[in-house]
Amino acid sequence: MVDRKPKVVVTRKLPAAVEARMGELFDATFNSSDAAMDSAALGEAVAEADVLVPTITDHIDKALIGLAGPQLKMIANFGAGVDHIDVNAAHARGVIVTNTPGVLTEDTADMTMALIMAVARRLVEGAAVAQAGAFTGWSPTWMLGKRLKGASLGIVGMGRIGQALARRARAFGMHIHYHNRRPVSRPIEAELEATYWPDLDRMLAEMDVVSLNSPSTPETRHLLSAERLKRLKPGAIVVNTSRGDVIDEEALADALARGALAGAGLDVFEHEPAINPRLLNLPNVVLLPHMSSATVEARIEMGEKVMINIRTFLDGHKPPDRVLPGAA
Ligand code: 8YV
Repeated sequence: MVDRKPKVVVTRKLPAAVEARMGELFDATFNSSDAAMDSAALGEAVAEADVLVPTITDHIDKALIGLAGPQLKMIANFGAGVDHIDVNAAHARGVIVTNTPGVLTEDTADMTMALIMAVARRLVEGAAVAQAGAFTGWSPTWMLGKRLKGASLGIVGMGRIGQALARRARAFGMHIHYHNRRPVSRPIEAELEATYWPDLDRMLAEMDVVSLNSPSTPETRHLLSAERLKRLKPGAIVVNTSRGDVIDEEALADALARGALAGAGLDVFEHEPAINPRLLNLPNVVLLPHMSSATVEARIEMGEKVMINIRTFLDGHKPPDRVLPGAA
């Protein structure tokens, strides 16, 4: 592409080992302050970079891509989800987009399972009592939760993370059900003893726990709508570690406030980093600040993938994690 070292602009602070290697490979610019770049700074970045390395906190829309200089050839996202990038606009301008799938699967599935357990067994509520020094003694009817063994788990979106969650949940004795655009392969379905529901509405009505694991696309926006929330069992638990807008957050707050659900565990929010204030003080809700993939190992492997994608592309080959328009 270029004889000189390619100019790579990284929008957020990455692990030191990743930045060090990127500094060796590329003419890389880092963001030592880690403050999210505003649209003016992003505009300057795309005007001068050969490769932009953004994260979920950067809004790479059509207008921003319109500011790109002719040298911008690649957006190598540090993250799996690409809903913050207008992939069509990038493609139309000859800019390829890559992401980092696979390396955050297990960590995200761990945290999804942790949220299911935290809500079902009232972990945060109990910990708050103990840590406040307010534990006055055991009682047979106090802090009762829901047993997971034998409970049904409905996974909405049976991709890598959905399947990794299913494996964990099976080990806890849960029964696995899922809704997906297509059923997974027979061997995987057999391994997970999973039941496919082509009709999401029908699945929702039968589940004890519902986990959202689908990417954010125009089709999945508010997939768990007010109407669908009403279909859930009164004792159901909803968990979301995918993207906030897959649930109608206002409708979820309504359902939780009126006691229509047993609880919710949320790691992502519709207007991140803002969290709907109505969710903040509900005792049956566990909230996390988008940290499902936040392990040292995942962040380093994400950095590795970003570098492999850039290097492969610069060497004239198809990068392994290319995101095609309309494929999100
Ligand atoms: C990442 C995520 O930490 O990869 C994703 O899609 O949602 C996160 O878990 C984040 O996107 C990094 O950009």
